[in-house]
Amino acid sequence: MCGIIGYVGSRTALPLILEGLKNLEYRGYDSAGIAVISNDQLRIKKDVGRVDRLLADPNFNKTKGVIGIGHTRWATHGKVCVENAHPHTDCTEKIAIVHNGILENFRELKSELLKRKHIIRSETDSELIAHIIEEYLKIKPTFLDAFSEALKRLEGSYAILAIKADEKVILGAKKSSPLVLGVSEHGIFISSDIPSFLEHTKNVVYFHDGDIVKASPDGFNVFSNEAKVHRPIDTIDWDVEQVKKGDFDHFMLKEIMEQTETIQRAIQQDETIVKQISEAFKSAKGIFFVGCGSSYHACLAGSYVFSKISNLHVNVCLGSEFENFEHFLTPETLVVAISQSGETADTLGAVRVAKKKGCKILTIVNVMGSSLMREGEVSLLLKAGPEMCVLSTKTYTSQVALLTLLAFVVADRLEDGKNEMKKLWLEIYKLTSRTMREHIRKLAHPMINAEHVYLIGRGLQYTTALEAALKIKEVSYIHAEAFAGGELKHGTLALIEEGTPCIVFVSGENNKIIQNVHEIKSRGGVIIGVSPQQNEIFDFWIKVPEVGLLSSIIQIIPIQILSYYLAVLKGLDPDRPRHLAKSVTVE
Ligand code: F6R
Repeated sequence: MCGIIGYVGSRTALPLILEGLKNLEYRGYDSAGIAVISNDQLRIKKDVGRVDRLLADPNFNKTKGVIGIGHTRWATHGKVCVENAHPHTDCTEKIAIVHNGILENFRELKSELLKRKHIIRSETDSELIAHIIEEYLKIKPTFLDAFSEALKRLEGSYAILAIKADEKVILGAKKSSPLVLGVSEHGIFISSDIPSFLEHTKNVVYFHDGDIVKASPDGFNVFSNEAKVHRPIDTIDWDVEQVKKGDFDHFMLKEIMEQTETIQRAIQQDETIVKQISEAFKSAKGIFFVGCGSSYHACLAGSYVFSKISNLHVNVCLGSEFENFEHFLTPETLVVAISQSGETADTLGAVRVAKKKGCKILTIVNVMGSSLMREGEVSLLLKAGPEMCVLSTKTYTSQVALLTLLAFVVADRLEDGKNEMKKLWLEIYKLTSRTMREHIRKLAHPMINAEHVYLIGRGLQYTTALEAALKIKEVSYIHAEAFAGGELKHGTLALIEEGTPCIVFVSGENNKIIQNVHEIKSRGGVIIGVSPQQNEIFDFWIKVPEVGLLSSIIQIIPIQILSYYLAVLKGLDPDRPRHLAKSVTVE
């Protein structure tokens, strides 16, 4: 989705906003723009494409001014063009706003504003906000009053920042879209996400839905229901190096390599809390794991390990489908919502359905202070550090590792679980070694021209196949489809042609999957085996260790690496796949 950032302080705002926007690009990158107050005038620059395009104008780059706002867009309302890029202004061009979210009453607001003769220049819903503030400024004494009246007219989700040419403040507000404030020594940042200002401060303030913030060079105030409220300053333990590529060409590879450490951090949880959670699992009448995309695949893997390790049945549901099962929810149901960002609208929607039914809610997120974290009675953090690549890699394996740990706790085998997982560190180190990467790169070469790739596995390996297919398609744009090994013969086998690459995940003594591989091979498929043992049927073998029920943490890693090289060898940017945004805050 879109990323927004504002700065007010003692330094020149423009370079700080540009730098912040670059770290928000994972939220959307089809257009970008900045507005700065300079000599009581708004100076605005916007363009289609990446943030770097804004740097192309040397005149604008000299703009002074200590207050500014910026936006990087993932189009929802209106095509990708300069007019639709943010910031948007009112008719007088004195007010500029940036917005992340969707206004549901857009049509009604637009026709009302058009009747009042406002000049609407874009197709976006966001522009209307500037005009509504303009309207209220005619009857309200202050910018803050007009801003807060305008918010009452908005239905839908929003994180908004607004500035006015003759005011030394930034106003911000949030409802169902992320917004966080950073307090640095030289000024205040307000942004969609912490990486945008991590270089300047680790001191952050999280807002509640409905909060309005007024930030000036002297500090900030937060209001809720028109009264001043206190929101504490927290310190985030993220490291500034984590939002930099360092020696790597791309965040994707850097984050794949980090998994040796992130897995360790994921299972370092407060034992008292984890044991309380375990009681909630044991006493629940009905358990649901809910997530989207890779987080959904982690839920699926989790359901297999819960079945096998703790003998507990877990229902798994996509966030967007969850409401269909609301009839089965009671106050005794435990709903575990899993999300890297903690801002995915579909997952948040599911949790709200569950809350209405009085269910117990556990959330597992990577981003501290995120909306989902606040929705749960209990929340566990993945501690993977910021994930800058649009694709989930390290956070997926952290999710599976944490769910596996919980399965051990529920089985009263916490120590066993920890000991088993300790064995993984070295294995992940080996799987991400230069030798292994080179081996996988050789496989990627002939695959870049493939139109289709099929992936199969049984049991836990089936869930890995699903996640692996998502990785390949989202970053290389090659069609990749995963099946439970037994399912292929029920239809898809018809698609196998001479030379079709098929990736098979093998673990243990699972001979049935090898039988499925024979079915593919005899129809011309080229077999890539991800397996602890070599098998003569493999055309290419990626050796992985045998780690039994922990295999979904391990076996995905070679395919993350393969996906990375498929993208790089095709000349694509693995960190920013087309049409995608990391945090999907619309339903
Ligand atoms: C895949 C990917 C997405 C996310 C999905 C959910 O690589 O990144 O499929 O997994 O959008 O996001 P979170 O986990 O933030 O809820």
